[in-house]
Amino acid sequence: MDEYSMDEIKRGRMILKSDWEIVDNFKSDQKKGVLVPPFEKPYPENASLISLPVAKDLSEKSVGKAIVDRMSRRKFTDEPITLEELSFLLWATQGVKRVGKVATLRTVPSAGARHPFETYLYVRKVEGLNEAIYRYLPLEHALILQKADRYLREQLIRATLDQVFIGDAAVVFIWAAIPYRTEWRYGPVSHKVILIDAGHVCENLYLSCESINLGTCAVAAYSQKQMDEFVGIDGEDEFVVYLAPVGKVPPQVI
Ligand SMILES: Cc1cc2nc3c(=O)[nH]c(=O)nc-3n(C[C@H](O)[C@H](O)[C@H](O)COP(=O)(O)O)c2cc1C
Repeated sequence: MDEYSMDEIKRGRMILKSDWEIVDNFKSDQKKGVLVPPFEKPYPENASLISLPVAKDLSEKSVGKAIVDRMSRRKFTDEPITLEELSFLLWATQGVKRVGKVATLRTVPSAGARHPFETYLYVRKVEGLNEAIYRYLPLEHALILQKADRYLREQLIRATLDQVFIGDAAVVFIWAAIPYRTEWRYGPVSHKVILIDAGHVCENLYLSCESINLGTCAVAAYSQKQMDEFVGIDGEDEFVVYLAPVGKVPPQVI
């Protein structure tokens, strides 16, 4: 390995380390009294919200059984999922339980309760929704239309480097980070915890899918530029960090 690539590797490793001592001395925006960033990305006042059914616990399995059964699922049937199922999965991954002055408490843990993610959905087959990209509004437990285009499925397969099975999902969860939500409190040590946060979100998706006989698969292999363009975000202050297709699983592999 040449010197340049070793430098790259070392720089990458630095993100995994914790220099938490910095936090005590670092004058974060929070310590400077800068207003807390919004808990979810604002949307236009005149936007039409698509309300979701109240999230009900639809799970049919114990946590223990869901953990035993969990595996990455890459084969989906062509059946749609219901809006109730989607509502449950959104609640399980980002649902808001309490809103405070500087933080929200949700169904997943997050360092400093910063919850730095927006959830975008590429909806292909969900009862009651047209094929399009939507954004989840966790505070309202509603959706907002992000983008409609005839060729979304093809664009998504290309952006995920020809992982064709992703295009067979009923819905694809796409998590984009807004790093400033965490940087506001933790400054330069934010980036490790943002990625750890993402793992918690996706694990809740795995377990909640298993519990209602749906399947999912974590996906981190994608083109950054193409995925950010696909979702319609700037790639600087907000960018995709993780995604997961969800669908009904053929009976023989449950
Ligand atoms: C961070 C992360 C990224 C992953 N990225 C991909 C991916 O891009 N494509 C894919 O097919 N699977 C991906 N996977 C799934 C892994 O391949 C899978 O978890 C692993 O093979 C173990 O299998 P299991 O989940 O069935 O136990 C990813 C998993 C994780 C946790």
